[in-house]
Amino acid sequence: MDEKLSVSDLRTEYTRNPLGIDEPNPRFSWVPLSEKRGRMQKAFRIIVSSSIENALNLEADIWDSGKVESDFNIAEYRGPPLRSFSKYFWRVKWWDQDGQESDWSEVAFFETGPLNPDDWANAAWIGGGQLLRKEFEVMDDVVEARVYISGLGYYELRLNGKKVGDKALDPIWSEYDKKVYYSTYDVTHLIRKGLNAIGIILGRGRYAPSHQPTIFKLKYYDEPKAILLLRLIFNDGSVKNIISDKSWKCLEKGPILSDDIYLGYKYDFRLEPKGWDLPGFDDRDWKHCSEMKPPKGRLVSSSTIPSTKIMGLLKPVKVINPLPNVYVFDFGQNITGWVRLKVRNATKGTTVKIRYSELINEDGTLNTLNLRGAQATDVFILDDSGDQCWLEPRFTYHGFRYVEVVGYPGVPSSDDIEAVVIGADLERCGSFTCSNQLINEILKLCIWSLRNNLNNGIQSDCPQRDERMGWLGDLWLSAETAILHFNIIRYYEKIIDDIIDSQRDDGSIPDFVPVYWEWDVYPADPAWGTALIILPWYLYQYYGDKRILEKSYEPMKKWWLLLYSMTKDGILYYGKYGDWVPPGRGKSFEHCPHEILSTWILFRDAKILKEIADILGRVDDAKFFEEKKQEIYEAFNRNFLRESQGWPGLARLGYYSELKTKDGNSILLGGSQTTLALPLAEGMVPREAFDQVFRELLRLVKDEWDRHLNAGIIGAKYVPEVLAENGALNLAYEVLTQETYPSYGYMIKEGATTLWERWEKLTGNAMNSYDHHMFASVGAWICKYLGGLRIIKEGFKEIIIEPPLIDNLLHASLSIETIRGVLQIMWSRGSNAVVLDLSIPVGTVAEVRLPKLNKKASIYEGDCRIWESGKTVNQVNGILSISEQKDKIIIKVGSGRYSFKMESE
Ligand code: BGC
Repeated sequence: MDEKLSVSDLRTEYTRNPLGIDEPNPRFSWVPLSEKRGRMQKAFRIIVSSSIENALNLEADIWDSGKVESDFNIAEYRGPPLRSFSKYFWRVKWWDQDGQESDWSEVAFFETGPLNPDDWANAAWIGGGQLLRKEFEVMDDVVEARVYISGLGYYELRLNGKKVGDKALDPIWSEYDKKVYYSTYDVTHLIRKGLNAIGIILGRGRYAPSHQPTIFKLKYYDEPKAILLLRLIFNDGSVKNIISDKSWKCLEKGPILSDDIYLGYKYDFRLEPKGWDLPGFDDRDWKHCSEMKPPKGRLVSSSTIPSTKIMGLLKPVKVINPLPNVYVFDFGQNITGWVRLKVRNATKGTTVKIRYSELINEDGTLNTLNLRGAQATDVFILDDSGDQCWLEPRFTYHGFRYVEVVGYPGVPSSDDIEAVVIGADLERCGSFTCSNQLINEILKLCIWSLRNNLNNGIQSDCPQRDERMGWLGDLWLSAETAILHFNIIRYYEKIIDDIIDSQRDDGSIPDFVPVYWEWDVYPADPAWGTALIILPWYLYQYYGDKRILEKSYEPMKKWWLLLYSMTKDGILYYGKYGDWVPPGRGKSFEHCPHEILSTWILFRDAKILKEIADILGRVDDAKFFEEKKQEIYEAFNRNFLRESQGWPGLARLGYYSELKTKDGNSILLGGSQTTLALPLAEGMVPREAFDQVFRELLRLVKDEWDRHLNAGIIGAKYVPEVLAENGALNLAYEVLTQETYPSYGYMIKEGATTLWERWEKLTGNAMNSYDHHMFASVGAWICKYLGGLRIIKEGFKEIIIEPPLIDNLLHASLSIETIRGVLQIMWSRGSNAVVLDLSIPVGTVAEVRLPKLNKKASIYEGDCRIWESGKTVNQVNGILSISEQKDKIIIKVGSGRYSFKMESE
């Protein structure tokens, strides 16, 4: 067959046809396609043109990469410097290993925004009021119009009476003293010939918080302000700029009585200046805007970073009327967002109050205790609205499942209310399902918790209480689950940037980013700060893109060296949170002391840094980290690897259970699942002790904890991984599918629709959020060990596919749009057959491991028998080799679709 090679899914900076980018050397990526099996990209060629016609005619008047030998489908733009406000059109083609050439791709484009500060055409940061407006006249036909805008803390942009764009909360948050993000909008369709009106509503957000939460003091940067450049391009190529300046008018006190992400929104419809965002509005009483001090941070484009948008709408599943005139709606799912409420025939001055909560009391009233200082209340004072109007807050968001409505004129029905689900506009790229419904439910919890916390450009710990900070420990622990389900690279690159922006000269980084609390969070707990090292590493594993390593290597190294300088004889005693929130506790230092966890982190990070140094060609550094690895390994085992006997009469306490303190004293600890799993996971246990240490872990999991986890967020990731990697997959599966406390199944049985912060069901006012993603590492475990996928070489270059043999698990399917294309694994099994349907992207080589159910096995690919009685019986295109091991048959395959069936006798 002579199938043609083709190309699809062209992206610039991982985004389809972005507008307003400011990256000087954008990355291009594409997906090479071929129906033919076993295809690899051998070379590619990219052309960049200044017009679509040129691109169609293959005139590379901007840049021609020439034929570049590479097996990787990401490449950097290396042409002449890009110009501001310009559109570039590009195409790509590729060659396979046999020299066969694909057609040219379709044309993709990207457009640059203001690349230099001067390009903002003297636009000023303006403020002084809540609503800002300006009218301008357009005499000719506009062929293209773009707005570049930022507004701190939040803004809503309006043009001729309409909201511009579909972002829900913008801009994304940042370390405002370092960076401020702006957005780009195509507003061509909103501009009219004649008079136009542009308006901005300002919100306080994180920049000008209006209150202080109960725990730590929030940073206050300055009063709200905005900057805007509207570029109008006419038929003859001429340009007219409308900029934010003192000629704008503003309304000092408007209808927004208050807005705050924690407290909520208070709006008085009676004060709304009707038609203020339309041309012709009489703004004679409005004052002129004041020019404001610009924020310290530089303006950076957010156009390739997923912004917060409305991601869905939910209808209530239940309405309760617990008290007279009090209505409680249950949306059946814990979400992040707010509600929209329809009112009819309102009377002027009526006040409608909406409160949000994750929990309800037995009598049906809201339980808001765990929100702590977040009042999560939206208040609307109504006007005579005629027929009907919608009440919907701005510049705030809540984490909730239940909503209470008080003061509604009449009786609200389910038709009058809907919940607005917000979140980062991340493309879903992965999915998994299997025959065990509980596993599917657990994964659903992970995805919802991640979704609910991926907003505003950060990954918050929780979306509801007076906290909502981008804690780094939580971040890295659930990052792989997020990467396996969302196209999240640009989002995570942005967060890594936040970490780098917050790094101090001595290398110190904080526990969360951006640092919106005044509280000193430097230096981070090593098990939190490790996000700076492991998150870029994960991105490299999954996307194969080196740029993130290049960008973060020096900051990573500085952070590592700072921690290393704090060690004593190779042990890091410094820590803050440890294996956070194991059963029954918050902190748990006796269960997993800092000495063990922090030193382990230092070792693991040295290991990663050694590999990164190798990749980046930093020979001396690679040697340095290799030595440090060894040094820490020895110190760790010298200090902690001993079989302590415990106190007379008590049971043996096990390995890694005796702690030497800084001053040389010995303390006996209960050896814990986490302290055993950590060194086992990272090759830190000397070979001769490995079996005993592993057996000890089995004993703790099986006997002491009756096949349950006794671990905090760190152990919850590593205990199941270590079990699965060392032949105890069935036990790990049993642990993860428990339904009694402490377990994920227990949360579900108790009604969880998102992951809890604690293993316990707590309903008081302490630390018990119902929407924390930090236990979501289980999601990646499910994809890897039940989906049967392991990445061997970065960017899915080499993978292992191994359907698991687990009692009662009969089928599973995993699908991921990887950087190389779609990867699908679908397996099922009966008592004597395993069926495996695969789709492997171009450029990936998979080692398929089929578990033998019995001694004798024969294998078919499609209708063709390929293996029988221990040998290959037929050669099939795409299959590189077949070999046999004790308990499995190994088939190496290149790209393409395969359908394997293994029958055992
Ligand atoms: C947050 C956590 C965070 C922890 C650090 C909590 O308040 O909600 O998720 O990692 O503090 O100890």
